[in-house]
Order: sequence, then structure tokens, then C-alpha cells
Amino acid sequence: MESLLKMSGISKSFPGVRALKDVDFDLKKGELHALVGENGAGKSTLIKILSGLYKADEGTLVLRGEELKTTGLREMIGHGIGIIYQELNLIPYLSVAENIFLGREPRTKLGTIDWPKLYKMTQAVLDPFQLNIKPRQKVASLGAAYQQIVEIAKALSLNAEILVMDEPTAALAGFEVERLFEIIGRLKKEGVSIIYISHRLDEVHHLADRITILRDGEKVVTKARGEMTNDEMIKHMVGRVLEEQYPQYDSVRGEPVLEVKGLTKAGVCEDVSFTAYAGEILGFVGLVGAGRTEIMQTIYGYLKKDQGEIFLHGKPIKIKNCRDAVTQGVGLLPEERKQQGLVLGMNIFDNAALTVLDLYSKFGVLQKRKIAHEVNTMVESMNIRTPSIRQLVMNLSGGNQQKVVLAKWFVRQCDVYIFDEPTRGIDVGAKVEIYRLMQNLAKRGAAVIMISSELPEVMNISDQVAVVFEGKLVKKFKKGELNEEEVMQYSLGLHEGREA
Ligand SMILES: Nc1ncnc2c1ncn2[C@@H]1O[C@H](COP(=O)(O)OP(=O)(O)OP(=O)(O)O)[C@@H](O)[C@H]1O
Ligand SMILES: [Mg+2]
Repeated sequence: MESLLKMSGISKSFPGVRALKDVDFDLKKGELHALVGENGAGKSTLIKILSGLYKADEGTLVLRGEELKTTGLREMIGHGIGIIYQELNLIPYLSVAENIFLGREPRTKLGTIDWPKLYKMTQAVLDPFQLNIKPRQKVASLGAAYQQIVEIAKALSLNAEILVMDEPTAALAGFEVERLFEIIGRLKKEGVSIIYISHRLDEVHHLADRITILRDGEKVVTKARGEMTNDEMIKHMVGRVLEEQYPQYDSVRGEPVLEVKGLTKAGVCEDVSFTAYAGEILGFVGLVGAGRTEIMQTIYGYLKKDQGEIFLHGKPIKIKNCRDAVTQGVGLLPEERKQQGLVLGMNIFDNAALTVLDLYSKFGVLQKRKIAHEVNTMVESMNIRTPSIRQLVMNLSGGNQQKVVLAKWFVRQCDVYIFDEPTRGIDVGAKVEIYRLMQNLAKRGAAVIMISSELPEVMNISDQVAVVFEGKLVKKFKKGELNEEEVMQYSLGLHEGREA
């Protein structure tokens, strides 16, 4: 079959980085072609060239048999190419509807925006997701998952013939992912061609017709799904065989570090009690919107609690805000890290230095060399792809930015760490390293709390797991006591005492 799209010999360099080297990629009508590779392999760069955001240094782009000479953003949309970017590009203070149809709002005869029509059109693109998102709602009021859905809906509303999805499910969990897969299935039937980027390899195996693997900016292989096993895929991605996806260690339970008793906030959580012990990892699972993030936000003072007590090492603590949390020994990796976790316009070193200012200053002078040493060690162990620690964070790939956020906390000594979706957007190889680093924190006596939407990950890495359903802890269990299916039942609210 003739290719709908053919990218040939694509090369692209940035100062100090050769992002793509002579890459070929093609897309057939109605197929889903997955693009995978480690963080920094060049996936997003390739699709930014396709979207017209970047210009390739070399190579050609042939669409429907014709070579494209100019490739601006508008041109490419005009050619029927819709992109869901990895970084969300929504405008927080505008409504969902305004964001989705920005610059394309339906007009009345008088030329003003036809609001009723706009809301109706928006509802129509949101309907298939069956989620509680309202067209009039401000985007800022939505959590990361729902913002991601809005971003997806926005791309769908373009009715593009070629749809590129750069990690569309990074912020989603079970239910939403399934909705998205249904939508993808429908689009394919309608003849839409999809380029799909994901670090969740099970998704890739589930969805892809063909798979292309990039490593260090070069194409390693393109194969039909059935021709490549999961292990082969990983081997091609990381260039070696991964021995264990979930490193094991024998944890030793120490003292209770963080105790939460009867934490309640109207509309958010109800009577939540748990204990995080030194030396252990405590995982929180639940559907997106179940209240996991909000429970943590109530603990660290971002949301104000109505009732309940929080103890650190047996003493009641009052945390006013994130900064205050840190000084009291609670390290926090928020879900919304672009706003709360990273300064994109600063380099890696300065970002890391921000979190450890107090630890590495003597007589008011920053011990830059020591910090640089720590940061360089982190960059190496987490395999952060960067020419140096002086690189601006905004120039790093999505996954590598995520690693920088994590590195900031691994450098810092805290009594409790709360990690909200720590491995979002991280490739398979680097995930293993992050699990190890988390285990090391536990080994050195910290209590580690991990929220994750990837069920296998929480179940394999946590010593204890708490399941959240509608703001309540409906089940707690020790590692190995329940299987995935049972946990799913609890997170869907289908546990005993309820009718399925
Ligand atoms: N604007 C830029 N300036 C400098 N370097 C850049 C820029 N954009 C990307 N790079 C570099 O190009 C390489 C490829 O980045 P890219 O974003 O394409 O990776 P990716 O495969 O999408 O990774 P991830 O899985 O982390 O999203 C990385 O080393 C990145 O740091
Ligand atoms: Mg990317």
C-alpha cells in the first residue's frame, strides 16, 4: 500500500545535541504506527518537524505523494495533521470550550462568538469520553488527567486525517485510557491514520499495527506488531536486555513516620487514616479523580482540611504550604510539576540548587562545587540526556525534565517523600533506576509515599498499598496479598458489600 506520509532522511541538530540522524518514517492510511524509544531518543522532535514547529536540517517530507517544500504550523494543520503535544498547551484561565476551539469559534451573524453553539460543539467532542467535564469550566480547575482529555478533544475537533499523539495517556488511568482506546478504534475505522508515542509498552502492543524504535536519534527498526516481542522491543530501545523491570529488595519496617488520622475535607476526602513507616514504600492507587492527589494536597497544606490530625514522628504538625513542608522534612513531587516542580527557563544545576540552598550554604555562600558534584552524579545514574548540567531545562525532552524534578528530591534528605506519579513519561530503563532510588530513600530510613496510575508498578514496588475510592481509603493491603484484578475491583468501588 502507498504511504500517506513519508518522512525520509530526517536530521535535526540543536546546539550540542544531534537529536535526529537520517531517520525514515512512514504512515499508511488507517494504520496506527507507534513510535517508541528512550527519553531523549528524538520522538517528539520528529513529530515537531511533522507539525511544522521545527524545520529539519535535512530530509524530505512527502504527503499524499507530494513533497512539501514549506512546513509552517498553519500549513500542516491545513494539510490535515492534528497533534496532541506531550506538553499541555492549554490556557488555564479560559474555559474548556474556548481552549478547544481557540481561534476557530463559531460566529453569529453579527460576528460575535456564538456561545450556545460553541458549548454544544464542545459537548459533542467531549461526549465520547463520558467524563464529568463541562464546556464552561475553566481549564485551571481541572486536574492533570482532565486537562489531558481536553488536549485530546482539541486535536480530535480538528477532524484531522493524520493524528499524532505524543504520550496521550501519560496522565490517565484505567477508565480514561479505555475510553481513549475506544475512540482510537473508531477513528481508525473512519480511516484516520495515527502516530502514537508512549512509554507504556503494553499499550503499544495493544494498539499498534507497526512499531518504529528510535535510539539516540537513529531509527533502529520498523516492524509489524506481531513480529516483535516485548523483550525485543525493550532491547532495541535501551540497547541491552533489561534484567528486572521491578527491582526487589527486602524492606525493613521502622518507626511510624507520617501518621494521618481522620483526615476529612468536604468534597475531597473523608476520614482518611494511614501510617507511613520508615523504611517502606506506601503506594496509593485509585482512578483518576478518586482523590489521591487531593488527599496529599490536604496533607501538605495546599488544600485546607476540615478535620483530622497529622503526626510526624509522633508529634502533631501543621503544614502551611509546600515550602513549609520541606523545612519540616516532607519532600513533595507534585502532579503539576510544570507549575510547581520546575523552572523551565533555568538550567539543571540552578533547578537542583533551588531545593538544596539551605543544605549547601556555608556562611551564606553556596557550595557550588558540592552541589554540582551531587547533580552530576544524579544526571549519570538517572541517565539524563543533556550536554551538561548547564542546559536549560526547557530544552530537555519531556522524560528528561521529569528526571530533573525527581533528581531535585533525591538530592535532598527528607523524612517523608510524597511522589505523585513519579514515573510519568519515563522510559522503561530509567524507571528501574527511579525505583532503585526510591528504595534507597526507604533504606536510609525515609518513608516513601507513591501515587501511581500504573497498577503493576505500584503493586510491585510498594510494601503497603492503599486503595482510594471517592475520597475514602477502601482497602489497605501488604504487597502480594491481592492481585491486580482484585485491586481494580476496589478502585472501581465494587468491593464486598456493594452490588456489582
Ligand atoms: N529546543 C531544543 N533545544 C535543545 N535541545 C533540544 C531541543 N529540543 C529537543 N532537544 C534535545 O533533542 C533530543 C531529543 O529530544 P526529544 O524531545 O525529541 O526526545 P523524546 O524522544 O521525545 O524523549 P521523551 O520520551 O523524554 O519525551 C534530546 O536530547 C533533547 O534534549
Ligand atoms: Mg517527547
